[in-house]
Amino acid sequence: MTNSIPQDLPLRNDLIGEVPYGAPQLDVPVCLNVNENPYQPVPAVVDEIAEDVRKVAPTLNRYPDREHTELRQAFSDYLERESGVKLGVEQLWGANGSNEIMLQLFQAFGGPGRKALGADPTYSMYPEYARDTFTKWITVKRNADFSLNLEALLDAMEREQPSIILLTSPNNPTGTILPMDQLEAVLKAAQNAKVEGAAEGVHPVVVVDEAYIEFRTPGTPTALQLLAKYPNLAVSRTMSKAFAFAGARVGYLAADHGIVDCVRIVRMPYHLSAVTQATALAAFKHTDEQLSQVKHLREIRETTAEWLKTQTWHGKPLQVADSQSNFVLFGGSFEDRDRIFDELLKRGVLIRVVGPDGWLRVCMGTDEEMARFREALTEVLTELGNQ
Ligand SMILES: Cc1ncc(COP(=O)(O)O)c(C=O)c1O
Repeated sequence: MTNSIPQDLPLRNDLIGEVPYGAPQLDVPVCLNVNENPYQPVPAVVDEIAEDVRKVAPTLNRYPDREHTELRQAFSDYLERESGVKLGVEQLWGANGSNEIMLQLFQAFGGPGRKALGADPTYSMYPEYARDTFTKWITVKRNADFSLNLEALLDAMEREQPSIILLTSPNNPTGTILPMDQLEAVLKAAQNAKVEGAAEGVHPVVVVDEAYIEFRTPGTPTALQLLAKYPNLAVSRTMSKAFAFAGARVGYLAADHGIVDCVRIVRMPYHLSAVTQATALAAFKHTDEQLSQVKHLREIRETTAEWLKTQTWHGKPLQVADSQSNFVLFGGSFEDRDRIFDELLKRGVLIRVVGPDGWLRVCMGTDEEMARFREALTEVLTELGNQ
C-alpha cells in the first residue's frame, strides 16, 4: 500500500516524511522474513480456542476484565514452568504484543527531556517507541561479533543519564544472547545512576526484551532470575515467537509490581479485548503443543548456520552471527544485499534486508521451506558471486 498524506493535514512536524514501519507482507511460497514460528496450531488447540471464544461471545456487550487477572495468572504459571521463576500476578502485565508492552514502558518512563539507551544493531522498532513518546533514542555500538560493548554502555549511562536502558536477549537481528554477568553489571550501575530531567534519587529502569528467549540453548539463564534482586528490572516477553501465536497479538511484562503500576497509569482502559484474553487462555491450556517445535527449530538453526558457513561469496566463506534465536544473520560482505534479496524473492523465498550493511537475515521455517531456501540461495550465490 502506498502512502498518500495530504499536505494540508497538520501531521506532527517530526513525523513529516516518516513511513509506517513493517516488513513487506507478500504472498510468496516461502516466508522467512518476520521471525514467526512456521508451525500452525494443531487441531485440538484450534478447537479449544474456537470453543472458548464462543463462550465469551455472548458477553461482548460488556467491557472485558481491565486487569486481565486470569491471563496474568496464566503468564505466571507459564514462566514458572518455562524458567523456574515464580512471580505473583501483580508482577505480570499483558498487552497487544510486546511492542505495546515496550511502548507502554516508554510512555511511563520516557517522554520529553528523557533518553533511552540501546545497543546497535538492534530491533528497528525501538527508535519508533522513542519517537512516538518524544524520548531521545541513543545507542552504543556492539562489538564486531555483535556482543554487547559493556564498557561503552556503562560510559553512556553515566554521560547521557537515560531513564530507560533497553537491551535485547537474544538480540534481533543478530541472535546474540546477553550474558548474565553483563546484565548484572548494568543493573548494578543503574541502581546508582542518575536520570536527566528527574528528581535526585531517581534511577533508570533496565528493560530486557526477551521476545526470542525460548530458543536459547537449554540451561542458559534468563533475566527473570534477577527480578527478585533488582526492582529496576523489567522483562518483556511475547507469545508471538516460540509460542507460535503471532496472530493473536499477546505480549507481557514481568517486573516488580512498582513498575507494573507505573505502566497501568498509561495503558488505555480495556486495552486487551475479551476475545484476545480468551484466545490466549485457551492456548496456554496447550502449552506443550504450542512449544512442540521449538527444539526442532533450534536444531534447524544450528544446521542452517553450519551450512551457511560452507557457502562462499566471491571465493570467501559467508560470515554467520552466533544465534540463540529462530533466525540467523549471515553474509557480512554482500556489497549489494538488495540484489540477493530480490533474486531470492524471484525464486519465491522472502527473507529480510536488515542489520548492518552487507548482511541479510533469514528466519527458520519448516524443513521443506529451509530446503527451498538453500536451493535458491545456492543458485543466487553461484550466479551472482561468479559474475
Ligand atoms: C526483538 C523483538 N522484540 C519485540 C518484538 C515484537 O513482537 P510482538 O509485538 O509480536 O510481541 C519483535 C518482533 O519481531 C522483536 O523482534
